[in-house]
Amino acid sequence: MLFNRAITDIIRQRKSIRSYLGTSIEKEKNEALTHFLSANTTGPLGSQARFTFITASREDRGALKGLITYGMIKNPMGFIIGAVGNTPYGLEDFGYLMEKAILMATDLGLGTCWLGGTFNSSGFARKIALQNNEIIPAVTSVGYAVTKLSPMDSLVRSSAGANKRKLWSALFFKNDKPLPTEEAGAYAIPLEMVRLAPSANNFQPWRIIKDSKDDTYHFYIKRVPGLKFFMKSDLQRVDLGIAMCHFALAADEEGLKGSWHIHDPRLGGIADKLDYRVTWVGGK
Ligand SMILES: Cc1cc2nc3c(=O)[nH]c(=O)nc-3n(C[C@H](O)[C@H](O)[C@H](O)COP(=O)(O)O)c2cc1C
Repeated sequence: MLFNRAITDIIRQRKSIRSYLGTSIEKEKNEALTHFLSANTTGPLGSQARFTFITASREDRGALKGLITYGMIKNPMGFIIGAVGNTPYGLEDFGYLMEKAILMATDLGLGTCWLGGTFNSSGFARKIALQNNEIIPAVTSVGYAVTKLSPMDSLVRSSAGANKRKLWSALFFKNDKPLPTEEAGAYAIPLEMVRLAPSANNFQPWRIIKDSKDDTYHFYIKRVPGLKFFMKSDLQRVDLGIAMCHFALAADEEGLKGSWHIHDPRLGGIADKLDYRVTWVGGK
């Protein structure tokens, strides 16, 4: 088993940590995460990505020199850096793979924060020896969480409404109406895990429409108008990959089989205002 605890517990426990203690990450945890990352290279939609984990020690922060996070992250003791090819589903696959690494780090007792905006890519690009055909959509800071939130943490958390999540009825639908929990059956848990997922600016752009066929769920992005002009990468596609990761890991834990397919069902109705990305077909 990959995780030591139930994935639903790990997902519920994870929250963004922006201030860390100066404590170094122990050798065993470093090795466990590095080992995991070495095999975490193929996304569910087929893109190849690669990840590296760079850590500092309490005495020597040299390894993290030049990794700039614009004052948002205090005392990071490491970073997970990832690169992916600029392919049609590269960003979703990247989101999926990086989130799996974050859940692994959470399971190891480490605090993390996704950074898709507040990082300067050039230092990170050097550390991962970025190739011409690759991009770094985001990085993740890692370390032990301080026990008390810093003023910066409190400010960022309250401006993003970080503790808040949209209601089930705003996210999941069937026949243009909110999906009743009972109709989701055993999929209520994977859907709830999507609801709790992190997203850039906490926009929670995922919308899921249940097909009239049993256990088929179509995943869409509800676009925030104009957003792409402010972002280095299309982070809403990364968010969708994160949602896929929570959904698939929770489904697996529930013993629900299924696979991802890309085939827009052209449902009409509310789907017309959404950006279709991928479908989960259960039972196969
Ligand atoms: C793709 C992505 C990019 C993010 N980029 C940043 C960032 O640049 N700076 C930052 O402080 N937080 C960033 N976050 C963290 C979100 O603000 C945070 O996940 C959200 O507010 C929900 O809070 P939570 O993670 O504590 O549940 C990012 C999250 C995601 C998923």
